[in-house]
Amino acid sequence: MPVREHRHPDHGIDPLFVNRWSPRAYTGEEIPDAILEQGFEAARWAPSARNAQPWRFVYSKRQSSSWEAVFGLLNGRNRLWADRASALIAVLSKTTHDDGSPNHTHSFDAGAAWANLAHQLFLAGWHSRAIGGFDRAAAGGLLGVPEGVAVEILIAVGRQGAVDALPEEFRQQETPSGRRPLTAFVSEGTYRAG
Ligand SMILES: Cc1cc2nc3c(=O)[nH]c(=O)nc-3n(C[C@H](O)[C@H](O)[C@H](O)COP(=O)(O)O)c2cc1C
Repeated sequence: MPVREHRHPDHGIDPLFVNRWSPRAYTGEEIPDAILEQGFEAARWAPSARNAQPWRFVYSKRQSSSWEAVFGLLNGRNRLWADRASALIAVLSKTTHDDGSPNHTHSFDAGAAWANLAHQLFLAGWHSRAIGGFDRAAAGGLLGVPEGVAVEILIAVGRQGAVDALPEEFRQQETPSGRRPLTAFVSEGTYRAG
């Protein structure tokens, strides 16, 4: 089902921003390394405070020996659909600058990198869905995340699959979501958002 049936931007923007969305139904097919590398390359060019580039990524492909343990980090609900993703990517971020001072925007900057990654994957014909519902403490240990590096998010990546293959409870939600209008989150001069 085309995204345009569900999403109607109020202003003229590049279709990329509207067409990217996060399905839960994936095919489980193997993702080429070149596609992942393209995604990480796009993330690489995200802006960051002091150009610190605090984002870090650790990925696991569905076919790899690390998959089962990474998949096991997901909460029960996310396990129901993410088992047919082609890769899970952990987004991490370094919390300090190289001089040891705190980097107050490490999460913000990692978020910018994730957006670049998601959009590039989409341009290459792959979808992604961020996952906040997972065991963060266990992720740090499993992935060998050192002190001073924060666990941000996991991302499921895959080719969009058939809705019918999803558990019943997700099928109805498998459509691109809408957004609030600009008036709900933009104001001039003083805060006036809802
Ligand atoms: C930080 C973050 C955490 C999320 N956590 C989950 C999650 O645990 N499970 C899930 O199914 N979707 C999760 N999502 C997906 C969002 O629900 C989805 O991105 C949002 O509804 C907007 O839809 P869209 O990405 O299709 O535009 C998460 C997204 C973000 C950005």
